[in-house]
Amino acid sequence: MKSIVLSSLSLLPCVLAQTVYLAGDSTMADTGGAATDGWGGYIADSLSIAISNEAIGGRSARSYTREGRFQAIADVLQEGDYVVIEFGHNDGGSLSTDNGRTDCSGSGDETCETVYNGVAETVLTFPKYLENASQLFLDKGAHVLISSQTPNNVWETGVYSYEPNRFVGYAQLAAEVAGVEYVDHGAYVASIYEVLGLDTVNAFYPSDHTHTSPAGAQVVADAFLKAVVCSGVGLSDVLTTTDFDGECL
Ligand SMILES: *[C@@H]1O[C@H](CO)[C@@H](O)[C@H](O)[C@H]1NC(C)=O
Repeated sequence: MKSIVLSSLSLLPCVLAQTVYLAGDSTMADTGGAATDGWGGYIADSLSIAISNEAIGGRSARSYTREGRFQAIADVLQEGDYVVIEFGHNDGGSLSTDNGRTDCSGSGDETCETVYNGVAETVLTFPKYLENASQLFLDKGAHVLISSQTPNNVWETGVYSYEPNRFVGYAQLAAEVAGVEYVDHGAYVASIYEVLGLDTVNAFYPSDHTHTSPAGAQVVADAFLKAVVCSGVGLSDVLTTTDFDGECL
């Protein structure tokens, strides 16, 4: 009996050491109490394990890759850790005026050649960057979850409207091709925003139609957690609550 207790105790530090890494852009990044804030840090209170929010403003799947940020997560990842990947806001645009973030158009093996900052670069499609990162993390034994990007203010015109852009579909495709889990975060945010209504949601956007106030970030984080629970993905195993308002989509 004693040895059973001891052996289960010796497993404990292993379990407690698990971490959720977040990879994304400004809509996920911590700003440390600015007027607008990303949603990533706001899931911390609902997790039974540590969080490491590696999201950083202005990044796309491409620039996050080129800057070695996926690699930096892979370098510290332990088997059994979680990685959430959410991009899209900075992945559009045209390579003819390359800002270092735009991906090659398409959803498969297409490549584009560019010169950015004086350096020749072969640019991949959005799904390929996510598939590549997913494989890196899978090779380390991590649980990988691709999440669709947040919507811009769905009440911007005065009438509710949510039309997911192409990176939402591409995120789902990347998850399928990579064989990792997927949540449609954008759809969950939009459905909650629809119920909250114009005045409440407009107040979440103090500076533009993309970046939320801290109160908005909390709602966007809650939408992510609801999507995780409703979709039954692995991350639901490390949540401290699985109670959320409203129906699953
Ligand atoms: C795949 O991902 C790794 C790690 O992020 C990166 O070093 C490598 O350049 C990527 N491959 C391509 C073709 O982008």
